Amino acid sequence: MKNFYITTAIDYVNGSPHLGHAYEKVLTDVIARFRRLMGDNVYFLTGVDEHGQKVQQSAKKRGIAPQQFCDEVSEEFRALCKTLNISNNDFIRTTEERHKKVVRQLLQQLFDKGEIYKAEYKGFYSTRQEQFLQDKDRNPDGSWPELFGEVTEITESNYFFKLRQYQDWLVDHLKANENFVFPRYRQKQVLEFLSEPLNDLCISRPKERLEWGITLPFDENFVTYVWFDALVNYYTAVVDKPEFWPADFHVIGKDILVPPHAVYWPIMLKAAGLEPPKSLLAHGWWSINGSKMSKSTGNFVDAAEFAAKYGVDALRYFMIREMSVGQDSDFSLQQFLARYNGELANNLGNLVNRTLNMTNRFGGGVVPAVEAEVFGQPEQDLQALWTKTRDEVLALHEGFQFHIALERTFAFITATNAYIETRAPWKLGKSTDPKDQALLKTSLATMAEALRLGVSLLPAVMPDTTLKIHGVLGYTGGAVWKDELVWDGRLTGSKVAATAILFPRPQAEPAKQG
Ligand code: ME8
Ligand code: MG
Repeated sequence: MKNFYITTAIDYVNGSPHLGHAYEKVLTDVIARFRRLMGDNVYFLTGVDEHGQKVQQSAKKRGIAPQQFCDEVSEEFRALCKTLNISNNDFIRTTEERHKKVVRQLLQQLFDKGEIYKAEYKGFYSTRQEQFLQDKDRNPDGSWPELFGEVTEITESNYFFKLRQYQDWLVDHLKANENFVFPRYRQKQVLEFLSEPLNDLCISRPKERLEWGITLPFDENFVTYVWFDALVNYYTAVVDKPEFWPADFHVIGKDILVPPHAVYWPIMLKAAGLEPPKSLLAHGWWSINGSKMSKSTGNFVDAAEFAAKYGVDALRYFMIREMSVGQDSDFSLQQFLARYNGELANNLGNLVNRTLNMTNRFGGGVVPAVEAEVFGQPEQDLQALWTKTRDEVLALHEGFQFHIALERTFAFITATNAYIETRAPWKLGKSTDPKDQALLKTSLATMAEALRLGVSLLPAVMPDTTLKIHGVLGYTGGAVWKDELVWDGRLTGSKVAATAILFPRPQAEPAKQG
């Protein structure tokens, strides 16, 4: 069995989770579930990033201690994972002792090796971004870009990590590993960043300025920089499961690729004598009606609320169907409803209802066997389309082209509905001609088999829906997923359910009382 370690970014707990966080978890979940279906031994980690200025400030605003604040907000993130049916094996919080211990050990190790040194630093500092700025960060007119918030000039002693001495190593590593970053074009962005000399990384914050962090093991007047703390979570979680190291994929948003994940992280690991991750997957951003979604602007969709209203699988389907991994997408309720009604309710939902209906009406509720002599062109065409669809969908999953995989799968569902129109079992049912009776049985068997198979391509994206539809077909699946994806009429003799409720018409907003 192949070990497969995959992680999401850990979310700042300075606000409640939104659709962007939900997407990253669902995307990672789809990959994790797919790898498990393919037989891999998967370890899937997600969690929250609880230290740093942003969290300290948010707690202060609420007038509570940072730890209490983190305890509350991190529960929302944990609950979101449950709601979204995320199959994570672990949920890490950076305030946990297991994590602080590993961060302190790593810092001490790097300090002992001489990879960290102390120096006086004078420069412009952005509190909002928690970073020192350089002249190249300025606007053409010399002012500081809005995103830095208030910028002040400060002088202080700090600890620095020797980033620069590993720059050449990283460039070589990237050149030797063309698939280090997915999508590939983002790897260029990393190399571009590395075309300028790197500065060593300031990894400490004096406690007068920031208290909410992990104290440096070699100087108690400082806490460590939040990114140095946060990135290490990926290592903490598997420190006693070395078979999973290094990670196969860190799934992150494009905003945190360069420099934290693509530069700091591999260099930190290299300096510590640990293997860098095999790959980084950088996804795009969701906007709402064209503007950026963010916790700080309040412009966001509450994913849990949305899932409660429209169904978890409908939300999972929409996000994965709509977004091409790596690109940005815009979220609109109108587009969601168009897909919900057109693809889920009217296409898939309709196929399920018709199959159950007709099997009950014309087959006594039991899937009949195919009569080989009437297995004609329409059946053969559908069967051939199945084989093609399956092979394409598996390959598309391997390449993270989930939106196209869903499109192909639903094209097969559409073709199955069209097949039913062609055979029109409701007409065959009126005939007593033995050939028509044979054709009727064959069409019932064919639609059931096509539905079983089409749905068998959905468990990574819509796990509950897959179980539900297989359930109403009297099908329980088997041990090896790939063996399930074979057209073999294994539903023959299966007792189907009377009805299924899958994608009910979305409820209108409840009328306000009084
Ligand atoms: O960056 N669309 O945390 P975070 C898509 N704690 N993805 C989005 C998004 C949007 N509108 N908004 C945010 C952090 N994200 C650090 C990470 S990892 C060691 C530390 C994604 O809460 C974002 O790209 O700001 C990131 O991958 C994740 O949500 C957490 O963002
Ligand atoms: Mg962010």
